[in-house]
Amino acid sequence: MPHPEYKPPGENDVRSPCPALNCLANHGFLPRSGKDFSMSELIDALKKGFNLSGAFASMQALTAFTMYGKLFQKISLSDLQRHGVLEHDASLTRQDAAIGDHVKVDNALVDLLLTYKVNEKINIESLAKLHHVRYADSKERNKDFYYGWRQKSLSFGESSLLLCIIGAATNKEIDTKVAEILFKKEKLADEWKASETPIGFFEILNYQKEIEKKAEEVKPK
Ligand code: HEM
Repeated sequence: MPHPEYKPPGENDVRSPCPALNCLANHGFLPRSGKDFSMSELIDALKKGFNLSGAFASMQALTAFTMYGKLFQKISLSDLQRHGVLEHDASLTRQDAAIGDHVKVDNALVDLLLTYKVNEKINIESLAKLHHVRYADSKERNKDFYYGWRQKSLSFGESSLLLCIIGAATNKEIDTKVAEILFKKEKLADEWKASETPIGFFEILNYQKEIEKKAEEVKPK
């Protein structure tokens, strides 16, 4: 089945530093404006767009609404721009808040990510290596650089979400073309398929641990 229509954001629409949530808004799973959606709308979007299990979608949405102080209120993608809540330094495809645009994708960083492909796919090894590169770059250029255990855990958690959800139908590997379209246009590639079975929290957590282990293995000496 084709994906719901893709439309890039208009002038008054808002977006977040999360490529996946932006993608859900660009395909209309979330309001295209990116503004004022409820927790149940977010849960529905995560289930319909990415086939997350009801429990995992609810857990993610509840965590997000709580962390941004929006419980029982509506939230906008622009709320997620706030540095230091979920948004952190050394992102894979965004600059650090102190040195550049921490919300919009940096296409040069996506190109860098794509150079870490293995057999035309972005996989665990690609991301494990890239984490070190992005960490070193931020540490060197950002005088306000902050990356504690929480930021590290968020960062590897995001990589696990990426490989487990976007790579669900392709063995946790993502075709470079699919990855490029996802990050640069925040669009689901025509050939991309969601997971056939609902994705739960423990799959993401376990794979996060695998990526962290791989990152230790490939750590530059
Ligand atoms: C309630 C659900 C979610 C919330 C509130 C959320 C929020 C965020 C935020 C605030 C960031 C920015 C972190 C940074 O500074 O790099 C982020 C990054 C990211 N998110 Fe999400 N996200 C959610 C769900 C997802 C899902 C389902 C996926 C995968 C399909 C995903 C994939 C990513 C990736 C790969 C990044 C890292 C981007 C980068 O490092 O450049 N997120 N998310």
